[in-house]
Amino acid sequence: MDEPVFMVGGEVEPPFFIGRDEEVERIRLDILTSAQNNVIIGPRRIGKTSLLKNLRNNVSGQVLFASVNCRKITELADLFRLTTQALVAAYEEKHMVRGILKKFSEVFRGKITAASRSISEIGGSIEHVGHVYLRFREDEIGEKELVTETFRFIERFAEEIEEPVVIAFDEFQELSKFNGNIFNLLKSHMDSQPGVRYIFSGSSVSLLHEVFLKPDSPLYLMAARVSLRPIKKDDVSNYIRSRLKTRDMEISDPALERIYEYTNGFPFYFQKLGFLIYQAAILDNRDSVKVRDVDTAFSSMLREFDGEFEARYSVKFSRQQQDILKYLSADRTRRLSEISRDMQTPASSLTTSMRDLYHTMTVQKPKEGTYGIMDNVFRLWIRRNILGDLE
Ligand SMILES: Nc1ncnc2c1ncn2[C@@H]1O[C@H](COP(=O)(O)OP(=O)(O)OP(=O)(O)O)[C@@H](O)[C@H]1O
Ligand SMILES: [Mg+2]
Repeated sequence: MDEPVFMVGGEVEPPFFIGRDEEVERIRLDILTSAQNNVIIGPRRIGKTSLLKNLRNNVSGQVLFASVNCRKITELADLFRLTTQALVAAYEEKHMVRGILKKFSEVFRGKITAASRSISEIGGSIEHVGHVYLRFREDEIGEKELVTETFRFIERFAEEIEEPVVIAFDEFQELSKFNGNIFNLLKSHMDSQPGVRYIFSGSSVSLLHEVFLKPDSPLYLMAARVSLRPIKKDDVSNYIRSRLKTRDMEISDPALERIYEYTNGFPFYFQKLGFLIYQAAILDNRDSVKVRDVDTAFSSMLREFDGEFEARYSVKFSRQQQDILKYLSADRTRRLSEISRDMQTPASSLTTSMRDLYHTMTVQKPKEGTYGIMDNVFRLWIRRNILGDLE
């Protein structure tokens, strides 16, 4: 099979991963010099998870890198399960040993005595933390203790294997549902774990403010911020052109311009649009791509996202937020005064809704009093389907 032309969805790696050299380098240095922890912040689909994956590839010669997807954490015990398993799995993979994870995972489902035997074959801190979990299963300890033990394990494991450990918590904002307790624990352990570095990533500005930048928050100033911005135009254009080239297809400069205009450098969208453009060209038996082909592909992309955008628009936002988004969609950025005039309501009555939209990174504020919908594809969808403006 040929290598795919574009990669849509999932964690991408080179040659499909582009334009993040600076971010990778910066975080890599922080990791390798143990200088500081990092928090990666960016809107949905900007490429956070892929960045973590590539960071991992980049530093895995020097550190043990484990990622935890916090979306999968619905109760505190999940934090324990996911983190310990991620670490053990990363260790196995890196050092090409086999069977530890399987033995260790017995504590989560096997019979207590069998599981106990299984982990004693591993020994060390893995055995220790395995016993902790077995005690949890026997109701001898509670969830909170489990979380404390998770952080202890990370620390001990790093000491034991004599190599630095990096834990990446992706979608970190999901942990705020646990009332800040985790953050307190994390803080006390971050202070005392020289061999462990943390990377947090998420798509919520309030996460950043409440967890890392509010003076009374436990993690105040404990991590350096890396804001993920859209991929630069030249990088996107070079990428699309060179990917199409692998199939002997040409694309005009104006067509590349148009792709950027629509997708605004959001990686998920330019990969998807690139693919649709390619597919249409194949079906029409064409080996060149023009502006009108981009327009056609973009329209079908919007139709494809109908269900998702419809659900996002109607479920995630209040009535007032929906109206704000509707009027915001008319242009890339608009002044608050214009929105309030369109909505025939005083600007002051919009502040709470605006703040929430800003905090979830739905809306950006390029300058005071001016706002814009962050996700340009979503904006164009709203403009066409809700505002009813066809251009
Ligand atoms: N650096 C990149 N270069 C090219 N394409 C990328 C890059 N990063 C991400 N992508 C594309 O965007 C898609 C989504 O990326 P990813 O899952 O990393 O984003 P995310 O910010 O974690 O999204 P979500 O908010 O849904 O978790 C990928 O499947 C890939 O198609
Ligand atoms: Mg992600």
